[in-house]
Amino acid sequence: MTRPLLALGLVALLIGGALALVARDRGEKGVPDASGPEPLLFASSEDCRACHGQVYEEWQASQHAFAYLNPLVRRADMTDGFRKKDCVPCHAPRPVFEHGLGKAARVLARDTNRFHGVDCLACHSTGSGMASARAGLSAPCAPVHRPEVASTDLCAPCHNQHNTVDEWEASPPHLKGESCLHCHMPQVERAPEAGRAAYTGRFHGSRGGNDLELLQKSATLTFQVAGDEGGRRLEVTVTNSGTAHNLPADARHRAVDLVVRLLGQGGEAPGEAVNLGPGESGGNARLRFRNPYREEYGKVNTQIPAGESRTLAVHFDPAAARSAEVLLLYKRTPFVPDEEATVVIRRTLDL
Ligand code: HEC
Ligand code: HEC
Ligand code: HEC
Ligand code: HEC
Ligand code: HEC
Repeated sequence: MTRPLLALGLVALLIGGALALVARDRGEKGVPDASGPEPLLFASSEDCRACHGQVYEEWQASQHAFAYLNPLVRRADMTDGFRKKDCVPCHAPRPVFEHGLGKAARVLARDTNRFHGVDCLACHSTGSGMASARAGLSAPCAPVHRPEVASTDLCAPCHNQHNTVDEWEASPPHLKGESCLHCHMPQVERAPEAGRAAYTGRFHGSRGGNDLELLQKSATLTFQVAGDEGGRRLEVTVTNSGTAHNLPADARHRAVDLVVRLLGQGGEAPGEAVNLGPGESGGNARLRFRNPYREEYGKVNTQIPAGESRTLAVHFDPAAARSAEVLLLYKRTPFVPDEEATVVIRRTLDL
């Protein structure tokens, strides 16, 4: 084939692919349950933007929309620019409804518009319209009533890879909420749009470790000072009181550090603090909570399960130590220095 012909052939292939996707979206057997207008054909998130501008804006700024372009994910030692084909499915998925929801379902890789990452169609397209937890809607996008879209079963095909849904199931009832949406897609008021009156929607920004407000709800700290052999002892207890899974969740790329720095009269640390708990110790007393990489032999998983607590005990000499600074730090990768971490909680205690 000559070059122009080859290009033409490629274009034809691409159009063919797009048409195949569209045909699939319409579904051979499915018809929308509302007797609305003839459904539109959709190929990408862009097709939703004109009528769902508010949702689109939130999604566009989310980690979901970034899943295929994320430089950390594309690194040579990660997906290697997605040359590792096994990595494509969850980061640029076809609609999950195609293969059913739940923990056992398989996610397949999408061939088109991969740069959109986890797109609108991935979560909503059922093949016969857009999955909605509301019944009786009618619109050109053919909303279909599928209550399971609001359940953990929607998140499970991708998010149980690191057991998040299993952990949610084992969580104390007061933390579980009705599903992941409770904390990650809270209700938001939507302004009128595309002929629809104002209504209550769900935030689409996949808020997680990038959201300080959510992080501050994840844990609580309590303190106790007691007598100790040859001095006194400060005990700091951290409780996973605001997630319905391990803290930090999911990824091996996250770490939460509980740090205690003893301060003398001038604010300097009087000698090195002693770490009496399990975990890693830096220059200060420290407990690290983290799910280690597979290749990090000898390291144990120190994530805190939902509702559970861990205590860091620090021995001090009351004549030297005047106060203690206690920090709960969230790190998007375990290798960043404390200065670059998100400070979730900072407390100064008089000793
Ligand atoms: C031409 C305008 C239009 C386009 C394009 C459109 N929608 Fe809609 N969609 C609507 C309207 C209007 C409603 C509300 C219908 C009602 O209130 O009865 C709606 C409802 C929905 C619902 C249910 C909302 C709820 O409250 O539960 C979902 C989900 C949805 N659309 C997803 C999508 C997705 C995903 C796309 C792109 C693939 C899309 N829509 C494209 C107009 C549109
Ligand atoms: C089709 C696969 C898929 C589905 C379905 C899915 N996710 Fe995700 N999600 C991902 C991927 C992939 C990432 C990581 C993107 C990245 O960081 O590059 C992610 C990231 C996240 C994050 C982390 C954001 C951050 O700051 O790193 C949260 C929170 C999240 N998803 C919540 C949910 C919830 C809740 C559901 C169900 C309503 C859900 N996801 C459904 C694939 C999916
Ligand atoms: C990670 C999965 C996921 C992605 C990606 C996603 N949604 Fe949703 N969406 C949901 C869930 C879950 C709900 C809540 C279902 C319910 O309660 O009706 C929802 C609700 C909605 C609603 C009704 C509530 C509201 O906030 O207005 C609309 C409309 C909607 N989505 C459109 C879209 C559009 C358009 C996109 C892309 C720009 C998109 N969604 C991307 C999972 C997703
Ligand atoms: C009670 C509230 C709550 C519920 C319910 C909940 N989460 Fe979370 N989630 C959090 C908080 C708080 C964080 C931030 C701290 C952390 O990483 O654990 C978080 C973090 C995450 C992260 C990591 C974000 C990041 O930036 O790395 C993912 C992924 C996630 N949750 C998925 C889920 C899924 C999937 C479900 C449902 C099976 C769920 N969560 C249920 C509160 C909740
Ligand atoms: C079964 C679905 C699935 C597959 C397959 C998958 N991922 Fe992910 N990936 C996720 C989800 C969900 C997240 C976000 C929450 C978490 O870390 O579990 C994520 C997050 C990540 C992150 C962290 C991004 C951040 O912002 O910190 C990296 C890096 C990553 N994946 C790399 C890979 C690599 C490399 C492969 C292939 C070997 C791969 N993924 C295959 C679902 C998947």
